Amino acid sequence: MQTRAIGTRQVGAIGLGGMPMSIEGRPDERRSIATIHGALDAGVTLIDTADAYHLYAGEVGHNESLIARALASWGGDASTVLVATKGGHLRPGDGTWTRDGSPAHLRSACEASLKRLGVDAIGLYQFHRPDPLVPYAESIGAIKELYDEGKIRIAGISNANPDQIRTAQQILGERLVSVQNQFSPAFRSSEPELDLCTELGLAFLPWSPLGGIGSAAGLGTSHARFQQVADELGVSPQRVCLAWMLAKSPVVIPIPGASRPETIIDSARAADLELSAEQFARLDAAAG
Ligand SMILES: NC(=O)c1ccc[n+]([C@@H]2O[C@H](COP(=O)([O-])OP(=O)(O)OC[C@H]3O[C@@H](n4cnc5c(N)ncnc54)[C@H](OP(=O)(O)O)[C@@H]3O)[C@@H](O)[C@H]2O)c1
Repeated sequence: MQTRAIGTRQVGAIGLGGMPMSIEGRPDERRSIATIHGALDAGVTLIDTADAYHLYAGEVGHNESLIARALASWGGDASTVLVATKGGHLRPGDGTWTRDGSPAHLRSACEASLKRLGVDAIGLYQFHRPDPLVPYAESIGAIKELYDEGKIRIAGISNANPDQIRTAQQILGERLVSVQNQFSPAFRSSEPELDLCTELGLAFLPWSPLGGIGSAAGLGTSHARFQQVADELGVSPQRVCLAWMLAKSPVVIPIPGASRPETIIDSARAADLELSAEQFARLDAAAG
């Protein structure tokens, strides 16, 4: 698989989003492990997760623990895999999402994630979502401390606007390597952040790149030109979507979610799908 940079590290250009394996509608553990192994066997070396990817109140870190178990039982070299987790978001267990960007919470969340992942330092630790009750610089300052103490190897931010990206870069310097924002054919309002990441050389990780768990299967219907190009190339519209994103900028690394091996294996092949300049222009104009 084609690789891309996150800081000084190279990863497969398509990552795996872990969320569908831990929230509403999640599959059983056996299928989840098969999905993660299928992704790794297909050349995926970036797995995105979060402590908040769980369903019930008492199982914080469900997805992190699942990934740790899948890596332990995989036949390949797990040291080649970058596990990217996040802190600062919480799920009380009633289907809602809450936030806590306080330094005290981020510290305890990071320490708990470290234990669940069973590593000395977290590969990539991302501040999940700005907390309106905590100054952004304070939350980012906490991430810097975690880095300086050796608890995380590199840092990222998520759901950040251009001002927040610049603030985070001022505080974190080279420790900051990635920005993870929502981006898909249906959600293009984060193009300014994507452009800023290209300018600053930060990896840009589109979340819900296929439109989200409930909409991904219908991408070819909701965005007919993606289906049209898919028919021209004899591939799925989801694969075309991911190839379109990759072609937008060399800093893009999509993290499509999956709960079945078939879907992530199909998505992984987007890393090697070439669109013609005309096809790219058609998709880029049509999306939105
Ligand atoms: N930072 C944040 O605030 C934030 C927010 C949301 C998500 N995320 C991250 O971003 C990741 C991706 O987002 P998402 O999971 O919400 O949405 P998504 O990637 O847009 O859609 C996920 C769904 O796409 C389906 N899919 C994947 N590849 C496919 C293919 N080639 N053909 C057909 N269907 C395909 C999967 O179906 P199956 O289930 O059938 O495999 C899966 O349920 C998450 O898993 C999570 O890691 C981050």
